[in-house]
Amino acid sequence: MKFIIGNWKSNGDIDKKDSMIKSLKSVKTNNKVILCMPFHLLGGGNSVVEIGAQDISLYPNGAYTGDISGQMLKESNVKYVIVGHSERRKYHNETNEIVRKKSENAIANGIIPIICIGESETDKKAGRTMSVVKKMLLDSIPKQGDFIVAYEPCWAIGTGVIPTTNEISAVHETLFKALSKIGRDTTPILYGGSVNPTNASEIMSINNVHGVLVGGASLKYDTFLPIINAAK
Ligand code: PGA
Repeated sequence: MKFIIGNWKSNGDIDKKDSMIKSLKSVKTNNKVILCMPFHLLGGGNSVVEIGAQDISLYPNGAYTGDISGQMLKESNVKYVIVGHSERRKYHNETNEIVRKKSENAIANGIIPIICIGESETDKKAGRTMSVVKKMLLDSIPKQGDFIVAYEPCWAIGTGVIPTTNEISAVHETLFKALSKIGRDTTPILYGGSVNPTNASEIMSINNVHGVLVGGASLKYDTFLPIINAAK
């Protein structure tokens, strides 16, 4: 079983969601398929696909204009939430500490956080990938509770450029070892960044890759379905 998680980002509307959910309904798969939708499209789903969220407030219910609390997500039947996506870190200045607190907030509400980490192009060029991702991992994860990790190199997101198989394998091994050391060796570790129907199968055959986080290719049934089917 692999995790195939779509991230619609700030895209989509009710018609597109309905049509995707309807099309996926008859798909036969043993994989865990989740589509993380913008807030106005939360709820629904079917036996094949669950609907997740893309962010959660740092705070409980209260005077936090514009924030969606963990309790609100729970009420919308959300079981998974992306936290610390590189676009949140970049455009909303989310630090590892904020990501960790959001993850803990999700867990407190019975929601599994999908914690994103990944090096920048500058980090990669400077040969710092391993130390950067390891620190991001250890500083962003909750003290207790289940979570999922998504390794998403920033330079691979939306660019069509992906790391080599060896590079993905090396990073996932580093993450797996770091998690094992703290007794979290069953944590799923996903790869994300320019996953498409052509590269999905090879990526998911790499050791310690337990699924994929898919942006652009999750928006259309024609490109999302082959990725679901690519997972063995
Ligand atoms: P992409 O996005 O698949 O469009 O590169 C991945 C992501 O940002 O999660």
